[in-house]
Amino acid sequence: MKAVTYEGTHTMSVSDRPKPKLKAPTDALVRVTTSGICGSDLHMYDGRTPLEEGTVVGHEIMGVIESVGEAVKSIKQGDRVVLPFNIACGFCFNCHRGHTEACLTMNPEAPHAAYGYAGMGPYQGGQAEFVLVPYADFNCLKLPGKPGDQWEDDFLLLSDVFPTAFHATELACVKPGKTVAVFGAGPVGLLSAYCSLLKGASEVYVVDSIPERLKKAQELGATPVNFVEGDPVEQIFNLRKKNKGIQQSLRPGEEKMQGVDCAIDAVGYQARDDNNANKEKPTQVVENCMKVVNATGHVGLIGVYIAPDPGAKGAEAKKGIYEFPIADFFDKGITMGSGQAPVKKYNEYLRDLIVNGRAKPSKIVSHHIDIEDVPEAYSKFDKRIEGYTKVLIRFIDKQAA
Ligand SMILES: NC(=O)c1ccc[n+]([C@@H]2O[C@H](COP(=O)([O-])OP(=O)(O)OC[C@H]3O[C@@H](n4cnc5c(N)ncnc54)[C@H](O)[C@@H]3O)[C@@H](O)[C@H]2O)c1
Ligand SMILES: [Zn+2]
Ligand SMILES: [Zn+2]
Repeated sequence: MKAVTYEGTHTMSVSDRPKPKLKAPTDALVRVTTSGICGSDLHMYDGRTPLEEGTVVGHEIMGVIESVGEAVKSIKQGDRVVLPFNIACGFCFNCHRGHTEACLTMNPEAPHAAYGYAGMGPYQGGQAEFVLVPYADFNCLKLPGKPGDQWEDDFLLLSDVFPTAFHATELACVKPGKTVAVFGAGPVGLLSAYCSLLKGASEVYVVDSIPERLKKAQELGATPVNFVEGDPVEQIFNLRKKNKGIQQSLRPGEEKMQGVDCAIDAVGYQARDDNNANKEKPTQVVENCMKVVNATGHVGLIGVYIAPDPGAKGAEAKKGIYEFPIADFFDKGITMGSGQAPVKKYNEYLRDLIVNGRAKPSKIVSHHIDIEDVPEAYSKFDKRIEGYTKVLIRFIDKQAA
């Protein structure tokens, strides 16, 4: 089979690999119809998370069941499925409590596992024609429709970024009428804005510097804020100050609440410096989140912060240790949530929003490519050029031919 393999910093190759075989009676083999390239894959691509060369990458996977082991009960050959990027056992202490993002048995080295990802266990990824799914009853979500139909892209996004973005809004306590600032207009940030609007947020600001991405944020119904044009936190304060509806209904002292109720970090440790978009400043977005939320506000840190980070500048940073404005955090009584998203907690409900026409997350998809085009797509997505925002690798077209 054809598969995308990591071959060192800034090198993804298309290689021939043996088709995986069922190993355990609880496994399933999936013929992949579509697979996504994620912003998280870029951390590996940039050499910022150590990964063994030759690993098949890709954790955003959907397809059709090719075969199942004899112990698999709820899915069968021919079923259409999407796989949560978290691989989970379903029986450990954390899985039992719904925390599939912290499964205790699937990865001997850490409390979480995923397909084709550094530090996430020995699983090969799904930017490939086939992928092996452990504990298939637990790790497949069944889908209606047929491969290549009007939902193919929407369903693919159920593997990661749509539930991840929804989780970000949960961490940030987004509720009807709340005001929200989202940092980052990549797929996760755009869908965090989209989910905030789905939940009925009253004002949603999206901060980035990439024009195509800011335009997309606006199309989704959010207010774009370009950090190259000035301090994004000040820009949000000013936009709120100019909103007459808000200003005319303030209670005494409320003018001090010039920020927002909820902030989402959809950028992570490869954040750019607001004063120089060509320079990295890993703490930039955390600092902005602490500034932009009002007293008693909430922050969802969904962008990743990873150690070890071989590409970081300085010994502490290589260990993932940074300065944090803890006084602001305490002073304002902010609550903050972070970590990997428990995809399985949301994916069925989000699927049903899609099926019933109430959500169309695929609005953020920018490119469909063949597997041969993957190396070039990584490069352009990494540089955030030519509108490369959400790239999907299509296998279905060739399968149909
Ligand atoms: N927690 C999870 O479960 C989970 C799941 C998926 C992705 N992620 C993480 O979410 C983050 C975003 O993923 P993505 O796919 O959207 O990736 P992406 O890299 O395409 O998006 C990041 C965006 O942030 C922008 N940015 C950089 N510095 C900024 C700053 N100072 N202020 C505002 N915007 C800034 C970039 O221009 C880019 O558009 C990544 O760190 C990814 O690893 C986390
Ligand atoms: Zn991802
Ligand atoms: Zn488990």
